[in-house]
Amino acid sequence: MTDYSAALLWVLIIASLGFSTFAVFFSLSRHRRAHPPAVARPSGEDVAAEAARKVIREFEKNAQSVDSALVTWSPETLRKILAVDLPDAQVIVVSNREPYIHNTRHDGIANDGIELLVPASGLVSALEPITRACAGTWIAYGGGTADRLTVDKDDRVQVPPGNPSYTLRRVWLTEDEYQGYYLGFANEGLWPLCHIAFTRPVFRLSDWEAYEAVNRKFADTVVAEARNERPIVLVQDYHFALLPRMIRERLPEAIIITFWHIPWPNSEVYSICPWRERILEGLLGSSIIGFHTQFHANNFTESVDRFLESRIERADAAISYGGQTTLVHAYPISIEWPAELLAKLPDVEDCRARLRERFALKPDVKLAVGVERLDYTKGILDRFQALDELFKRHPEWIGKLVFLQIAAPSRGTLPAYQLLHDECHRYAEELNERYGSEGYRPVIMVAEHHSQEQVYEIYRGADICMVTSLHDGMNLVAKEFVAARDDEQGVLMLSTFAGASRELLEALIVNPYDAAMMSEALLQALTMTPDEQRERMRPMREIVRNNNVYRWAGSMLLDAARLRKRGDLEKVTGGAAPPVHDNVISIAERKRVAR
Ligand code: G6P
Repeated sequence: MTDYSAALLWVLIIASLGFSTFAVFFSLSRHRRAHPPAVARPSGEDVAAEAARKVIREFEKNAQSVDSALVTWSPETLRKILAVDLPDAQVIVVSNREPYIHNTRHDGIANDGIELLVPASGLVSALEPITRACAGTWIAYGGGTADRLTVDKDDRVQVPPGNPSYTLRRVWLTEDEYQGYYLGFANEGLWPLCHIAFTRPVFRLSDWEAYEAVNRKFADTVVAEARNERPIVLVQDYHFALLPRMIRERLPEAIIITFWHIPWPNSEVYSICPWRERILEGLLGSSIIGFHTQFHANNFTESVDRFLESRIERADAAISYGGQTTLVHAYPISIEWPAELLAKLPDVEDCRARLRERFALKPDVKLAVGVERLDYTKGILDRFQALDELFKRHPEWIGKLVFLQIAAPSRGTLPAYQLLHDECHRYAEELNERYGSEGYRPVIMVAEHHSQEQVYEIYRGADICMVTSLHDGMNLVAKEFVAARDDEQGVLMLSTFAGASRELLEALIVNPYDAAMMSEALLQALTMTPDEQRERMRPMREIVRNNNVYRWAGSMLLDAARLRKRGDLEKVTGGAAPPVHDNVISIAERKRVAR
């Protein structure tokens, strides 16, 4: 490369990377003037690669300092990252569950109307504030009975209703597609495969075919919605393992960030999936794959190592497969802070009073609550068992403790969920018969959908919140409970098998399989002084405040910006930009093993 073309190259780089790049370039050229190479002059490629490396390091330093220096992560922070580091990027979110469902309301009289439902989903509560902040496009399955009535001719609707800030693009599925892709492959196959809950996964070829067809349908929709070749696509969850590669094939310059919201099993468990290689190949179409915990990210890398011929750079959490490099990182998901709806809620005392009135509780009764979808991973029966154990060991609490279980109906046509539904109701009745008396029911089970507002009111009115999942990627109920308690009171019991237990260390951490231990934790919660409650609640609130959902999304967007800058550099240097990371310590080139 001549000096002239090298200079031209650097003009291009400066133009594409802005001021911080200029600073690095300036110091570099000054250095070159002051210290002309004495012995062997490096080749143009070496100089370009070295300079490019510096540019990237500089950018990464800036990005890191943004990350650590910012005390408050907010929608504004996200908007700034997008404006400064990813200018003109279109953000497209893809998930199965839509953030707003329109249903036909039959009021039994003449006037049927349309009602709006915000689903009970951690994914929705995390992604919604992000998409609002990015003014993006959210693509999701339109499953509401009035969804078709509320879209325009392009199947789009502006949301949130009343205060629109982004576009919801609905995708329609046939009954067979829904059955095979969602109920079948995603929820009878992948869901039990990824959660250690001892429910056997079911794999059917017809479900797999539907899953593949639906992933393709969503890929078509992403391509149709993309305004240019370089969108940032945020693919959500286990419903779309094949989608990243399908998008990559058609939009090679897209940044695709896939977030897997549930655990990833170890490679031996994973090996039972008949389409294990196809799923991994599909996911490795992503630029970045995110998990809640490093443990699950490691499990994923192990699965790739075992089943695909790939190059794994462990120190840098990068996997190269089929000419594409994918970063595998942990990004612990969180919630909006401050929760917007808190401002709309009554104070804690009022919430307590309202809850006690609604469920006819005596004033001196302690209230423990559980809030989730009715799912076998959540450890609801184990919670009942702990209560049973407490009443056996400490009968003085009979009459003085009520457990309220809010269980949102979920996947109710599947046999495993029907069985759980029946078992929960049966056990609750049994406990009520055994320990109840006139005017006292120790277990109240409400298997109905509750709005976020109602759920927060319950958190605020409770003495104890029991999150006893058998296995959970993160569990946002734990974080929501903490966020709801601005009075710094209330006790969180948290399963050690929920990702949230890695962050909320001051919770009473329990093993849901150990009923005796859980009953003792329940006793500790019931007798905890207000001072100790405050001592535990305060640091947990601090953690959730600092690691809020804007930080979760912001970290991924910053990583996306790094990748984009690196890609742009590679274009101008003709591939002379440094590898993803410098210090590769282990390369695994393997044949497929353990078939
Ligand atoms: C889990 C998944 C989410 C999903 C939620 C609700 O929490 O990680 O991705 O949104 O379940 O499940 P559903 O099947 O009702 O969408």
